[in-house]
Amino acid sequence: MKFGYFDNEKKEYVITRPDTPREWTNYLGSLEYGAIITNNAQGYSFVKSGASGRILRGRFNVPPASAPGRYIYLRDMESGDYWSASWLPVKKDLSKCEYVCRHGILYTIISSKYDGIETETTYYVPLNSLYEVWAVKVRNNSGRKRKISLFSFAEFTNEPNENQDLVNMQYTLFISRTYYKDNLIIQTINENYSEIGKIIPQEEGISGRRFNRFFGVIGAEVVSYDGDRDVFIGSYRDYSNPIAVEKGHCSNSLNYGKNSCAGTQVVLELEAGEEKEVIYVLGDGAEATARKIMEKYKEEGRVERELYELKKYWHSKIEKFKVKTPDEFFDSMVGVWNAYQCFITFFWSRAASMIYVGHRDGYGYRDTVQDIQGIIHLDPDSAKDRLRLMLAGQTSKGVALPLVFFDYEIKPNQGLSLENPYYVKRTGYTEYRCDDHLWLYITVRQYVKETGDLGFLDEVIPYSDYGEDTVYEHLRKGILFSLSKLGKHGLTYGLDADWNDCLRLGEEGETVFASFQLYLALKIFAEFAERKGKKEDVEWAEKEAKKLYENIQKYAWEEDRFVRGFIGDEVIGSKNNKEASFWLEPQVWSVLSGAATEEQAKIVLDNVERILNTDYGAMLMYPPVKTWGFPVFRMILFNPGMKENAGIFCHPQGWLIRAETMIGNGDRAYRYYQEVNPANMNDKAEIREAEPYVHCQFVEGKDSPFPGRAHVHWLTGTASSMMVAALEGILGIQPDYDGLRIDPCVPSHWKKFYVERVFRGKKLRIEVENPSGVQKGVKSIIINGKEIRGNFVPITEMKDENEIKVIMG
Ligand code: GLC
Repeated sequence: MKFGYFDNEKKEYVITRPDTPREWTNYLGSLEYGAIITNNAQGYSFVKSGASGRILRGRFNVPPASAPGRYIYLRDMESGDYWSASWLPVKKDLSKCEYVCRHGILYTIISSKYDGIETETTYYVPLNSLYEVWAVKVRNNSGRKRKISLFSFAEFTNEPNENQDLVNMQYTLFISRTYYKDNLIIQTINENYSEIGKIIPQEEGISGRRFNRFFGVIGAEVVSYDGDRDVFIGSYRDYSNPIAVEKGHCSNSLNYGKNSCAGTQVVLELEAGEEKEVIYVLGDGAEATARKIMEKYKEEGRVERELYELKKYWHSKIEKFKVKTPDEFFDSMVGVWNAYQCFITFFWSRAASMIYVGHRDGYGYRDTVQDIQGIIHLDPDSAKDRLRLMLAGQTSKGVALPLVFFDYEIKPNQGLSLENPYYVKRTGYTEYRCDDHLWLYITVRQYVKETGDLGFLDEVIPYSDYGEDTVYEHLRKGILFSLSKLGKHGLTYGLDADWNDCLRLGEEGETVFASFQLYLALKIFAEFAERKGKKEDVEWAEKEAKKLYENIQKYAWEEDRFVRGFIGDEVIGSKNNKEASFWLEPQVWSVLSGAATEEQAKIVLDNVERILNTDYGAMLMYPPVKTWGFPVFRMILFNPGMKENAGIFCHPQGWLIRAETMIGNGDRAYRYYQEVNPANMNDKAEIREAEPYVHCQFVEGKDSPFPGRAHVHWLTGTASSMMVAALEGILGIQPDYDGLRIDPCVPSHWKKFYVERVFRGKKLRIEVENPSGVQKGVKSIIINGKEIRGNFVPITEMKDENEIKVIMG
């Protein structure tokens, strides 16, 4: 089944049927004001933090029809019939109405047609603003004069701390109230605070300060209002049939210590063919702020201009990399949606979606260091800033804090580590993971290769606890930490987890996956040392890498696979195990790290295909665990075929694709890409259920009764790993220290493709031709008419604008 299509020209996904298998969502806003919106106008918003800045209430994991939203109801004042500008909440019979939702980059437009009345509602957060706009155009196409009321509805939280708002009702139900004056509803929270607040000791989690929120209406006079949610909705009713709308007017109620809402009514008289616009603004601030903002929207064309600016800003970022291949769905993802998703994961880490309820108040270390990889080609400056922040989250022992708070500041001697009770209490973490800091090496290298900014290695950055060092020394410390945590096979202890959150090996167990990562970290460090002319460091890193290599080969190789690890002497991922005998991560990382021999690489990747692959990607391991490995294997708690228990974890699919391209299997790499490309499921939405335009954390594997069903949308490492796989792997556009390597690895049926990209401020137009249908190999490169040997274009050959022609063969 199909519910929509990609409009690549506009960079929009257009949902033509509103009854999608799940809420198909989009993001609005920025790091300052975040908002989530579904194709039916549901969702929530917050200032700065989803945990402690919540403005609009979200209700999670409820049947979609019972969630609050940014609702606009329409009521025909003659017939009394009413409907909504999004299909929910009123849910008119779909044979009598039409709803189309266009999700764009940080805006959503929902249009409706019912009974001769058309609406178009544009939702967005203006650039650099702390409020959201809902602009509704209402058009009378019925051929006769109509009198239509528009009712708005927004449900405010009573307390910005979303957890307190939802669970501590004996307190939070009594702290908020609403006011109304001249088209403006104001909600206050703890309004006496400014008088006496400072001397009141606050309970943990409670903001205990004064907050104000506003909801202003521009373009028509508000004729009635409700500030009390329960008065607007009415007893024993719900969002689909509020009493105010049914009666045809609000009750002019004000909330006093219950639940606040912004219910307003305006009446539009529309001649045949006439269109009117009403604009709603909602955000954080008191009356003076609100009035100033409302004034701005009296200006003709303001919404169009702001939307134009918003699109210009984001489109120009995303357009730094353009692609045209024979596969339109590949282009939709790499050129638009995957890029957009990478920015969203970069912004919100794993904090706020319809699945992540916004409580996580920081950047998960490993997730964020990987998320950065997805945007380096589009926004290297932001990538650098975030890298700095993450490096400042590394302790002076070289290991990293599991979580870096959103409000963390880079400054020396903050004393943050797992030895600090405040940190432990705020995060709940008591142990370090073995992999967190190991992601830094690839990301720092990718940043340096993109920008040529080797000087970054000399930048001094504080540690999270005490002291400071250059980036280069941070990286050395990370390696030293890992080398101090090797087990009896000379491999990395698993500690609280390696990338796989469910594998808790502690200091009894070793992980082969993270050992490959450490091997690669040593190689990268040696590369940096070489560039800096530090011979001793090169020797040291290479010697350590060699030792590790020998241990891996000696203990972790088992004829046709690399094992996953050890618990004491027991082997995880051995062919002799009856469950979980073959794992994806060590196979792909043996190739990515360069530690597998050519022969091993071929064997293990063939076996990945044979043992793990399905129509929807490769499972994380197989067979699922049902009886074995507990308590080290937390995945045993998941139903077989889900998540880490033999689900198709999507994040590693990017690694797999990249690994295949490294050994020249373009056909297979592309097939894997197709298997996990959500756009390829556009016509099978009833199977995938999740949005066809975003990657998910996992898809159910073959042991589930629902193979192919996808879960945990938007905020996942899949975004960046698939991006890197597509750019560097399939398209083969690989920035290097002194230029750009172009080494595509494509399916043999791709006869050509085109990439446009900015590289160190220079524009590159790259045309790749593949006349003899090879999967890999470059015969010649011509840059600006000059032929170059090999597949490497030195930066010295690049002008401001460049035409590059690549012939594969
Ligand atoms: C989730 C976590 C990520 C972890 C992965 C595998 O995606 O966010 O940190 O690596 O699961 O367990």
